[in-house]
Amino acid sequence: MDVTKTIKWIKVDLYNEMSTVAANIFIKQLNEKPDSVLGFATGASPIGFYKQLVHHCQNGEISFSQVVSFNLDEYIGVPANSQMSYKTYMKEYLFDHVDIKDDNIYLPNSQTEDLVQECTDYEENIKKINGIDLQLLGIGVNGHIGFNEPGTPFDSLTHIVELSESTRMVNSRYFNSIEDVPTHAITMGIQSIMNTKAIVLLAFGESKRDAINRLRSGIVTEEFPASCLLNHENVTIIYGGF
Ligand code: GLP
Repeated sequence: MDVTKTIKWIKVDLYNEMSTVAANIFIKQLNEKPDSVLGFATGASPIGFYKQLVHHCQNGEISFSQVVSFNLDEYIGVPANSQMSYKTYMKEYLFDHVDIKDDNIYLPNSQTEDLVQECTDYEENIKKINGIDLQLLGIGVNGHIGFNEPGTPFDSLTHIVELSESTRMVNSRYFNSIEDVPTHAITMGIQSIMNTKAIVLLAFGESKRDAINRLRSGIVTEEFPASCLLNHENVTIIYGGF
């Protein structure tokens, strides 16, 4: 069997097109199930997508009032209110502009003393609500999803990771220098991502060409984390720009 066929591939020409296609999938989900549990990602890829969700929410076409959300990952060692935290990103691009309830927003809390307990609690909270209905993902140039770097076991749950040099280098564009980029993060694991019911992955631009081609080659290996998705039964990949 050609494993790549289990994935729905949607090629787009423009970044905005990718954002629209992704937003439409989430809008459909919200229309069908207003109390959906949504999984969110950060990075440059989903910014246009979030703008569209905000627009449709402010127009009254969708509501987040019953939504529960879980974010994939968060840096360790960055204050929650810092411009660099993923919490700030989510507030800036989505949460501050839609009607989601504060109590329904989950991000890994890297400010707490016991980070190992935080990982267990995070996983437990996802389980308690019966899992994530629809998960958004980006992809790192080395194939990471969330912050699951190459070599992460496929059976991993939410855990603490040491970021690879290449990921710190890529992400240093948001910091003053590479020294300022955190060395560690909390991330949902590969198994946590595989437990979600449906997945939408966004990849746009030349820098994602190799990662997407590697995924299309159909080889499943822990050395290329995103390849786990070839074993998931409901994945849509929206990609283009190369
Ligand atoms: C970051 C995040 C990932 C994100 C990826 C791609 O390191 N932890 O969740 O998907 O990199 O980011 P971008 O969309 O900016 O290319």
